Amino acid sequence: MNDWHFDEGAHAGPEHLDPNYVAAYDAKAGSPVTDEISALRELGLSAASTFLDLGAGTGIMALTAAGVCRRVIAADVSPAMLEHVHMNVARLGLTNVECIRGGFLTYEHAGEPVDVVYSRNALHHLPDFWKGIGLRRVAGLLKPGGVFYLRDLVFSFGPEEAEYRIEEWLARAPERPEAGWTRSELATHVREEYSTYSWLLEPLLERTGFEIRDAEYSASRVFARYVCVKR
Ligand SMILES: C[S@@+](CC[C@H](N)C(=O)[O-])C[C@H]1O[C@@H](n2cnc3c(N)ncnc32)[C@H](O)[C@@H]1O
Repeated sequence: MNDWHFDEGAHAGPEHLDPNYVAAYDAKAGSPVTDEISALRELGLSAASTFLDLGAGTGIMALTAAGVCRRVIAADVSPAMLEHVHMNVARLGLTNVECIRGGFLTYEHAGEPVDVVYSRNALHHLPDFWKGIGLRRVAGLLKPGGVFYLRDLVFSFGPEEAEYRIEEWLARAPERPEAGWTRSELATHVREEYSTYSWLLEPLLERTGFEIRDAEYSASRVFARYVCVKR
């Protein structure tokens, strides 16, 4: 790694490296992905597909996708997260899921190009300059016409609305950490991580080799979902 390179492991979010936090993660934040699997099937995910989940976390999506496609790769920069996925892969007796340490900037792919790259709530760990580099790498992993399905905390408002939008979001956070992300956790996210504006992320996606086929913003304007196709 060059001395100017971004250290993904050091910016993974300290909680994601903590085995106790990881053990409790699914109950706290593991929202189901069944609807997304259906959406991905409509976009071409099939029994012949290679599927990569970047920032797979505890593997909620990777384990579900294993029932649908040929090869599933769960990649994450956190050894604790990967250990958890590995444990579940063994418990479920899955033979088509690989756990690989690596992130947007470091994941090294072996084998046929990927049909679908999926990523939920992980890209915001990179500052925008590095998002550009990471997204270009994602495009490089995909087959032409391959799908990048991206969900993240993305702000679809302007700076003039920031005070109101963020306060409104934080005010609705649960009090107990077991019930979801608390106000203090969300405040840390806004202060210390790199969620960006939708109107900056979208040109970045286009510039790095994608056509945005669909974009959806949550009512809070804090979450976004993109279906992108490699040009
Ligand atoms: C909030 S969790 C989301 C996990 C999972 N995708 C989900 O939706 O439940 C964020 C994940 O991104 C991982 N992560 C952090 N930095 C990353 C990077 N640069 N590249 C890939 N994954 C990263 C963390 O280790 C963590 O597992």
